[in-house]
Amino acid sequence: MKTEVPVQRKIRRSRRQRKLAKRRVKKRAKKQVKEEGVSPLVEKYWLRRYDLFSKYDEGVKLDEEGWFSVTPEEIAVRHAERSGGGVVVDCFAGVGGNSIQFAKMCYHVVAIDIDPQKVEMALSNAKVYGVEDYVDFIVGDFIQLAPSLKITLSREALVRECYAVREQIVRYSLFQIAQTITPNIIMFLPRNVDLLQVEELSWLSSPPLCVEIEKNYLNGYLKGITVYFGDAAFGKMELS
Ligand SMILES: C[S@@+](CC[C@H](N)C(=O)[O-])C[C@H]1O[C@@H](n2cnc3c(N)ncnc32)[C@H](O)[C@@H]1O
Repeated sequence: MKTEVPVQRKIRRSRRQRKLAKRRVKKRAKKQVKEEGVSPLVEKYWLRRYDLFSKYDEGVKLDEEGWFSVTPEEIAVRHAERSGGGVVVDCFAGVGGNSIQFAKMCYHVVAIDIDPQKVEMALSNAKVYGVEDYVDFIVGDFIQLAPSLKITLSREALVRECYAVREQIVRYSLFQIAQTITPNIIMFLPRNVDLLQVEELSWLSSPPLCVEIEKNYLNGYLKGITVYFGDAAFGKMELS
């Protein structure tokens, strides 16, 4: 007996239909932005809010700089997986994008930011994610705090230490300061960073540090570059 196989027809939208659908999505988003009272300056980021914090709707707080500068959650998870699970110092913690993910996977996090409002928001966001007990939030200048951090942490000597450094520009002096604490450094940098300059940082160290450069894509777009130094490079500290 012959059975009829239903013919599957691909429904293709015409260019005009696609254009209309796109316009509808945009219109809906605009309406939502207006209803929520989102500032036009951060609108673009607000539309991608769940990429930044998957728990955004549960009370995540950000200020204007926070919207621009927070590490998207998927990339922050990646950084945390590569950090070795020990003690992490997030030197420029901002509103906590990285610190929260470190806290989920690591033994303890020291989160520093020079801006008291950022620290307040980072603490509040850590509570949203239920990780506030694993983070020490400090208001201060990392450059000034670095020497005292070394003493405190090495005295405790609890677990293997790993420190994460995130900065918008590669500055040798900053790298040197971080290195007085540990050679295991993670930097998240803008996508247009000079990679040669980044590599040079490792040669300037004595002995030269291992360095690994990773391109971070989000929704198909290059979002930034992560540079792993020391044992953080080549997955030596990666959590399985
Ligand atoms: C790019 S944002 C950090 C974003 C953060 N990783 C996140 O995911 O939310 C950089 C932060 O560094 C802070 N900052 C700038 N200079 C600093 C310093 N000397 N010491 C500590 N924090 C500093 C700024 O206040 C800002 O919040």
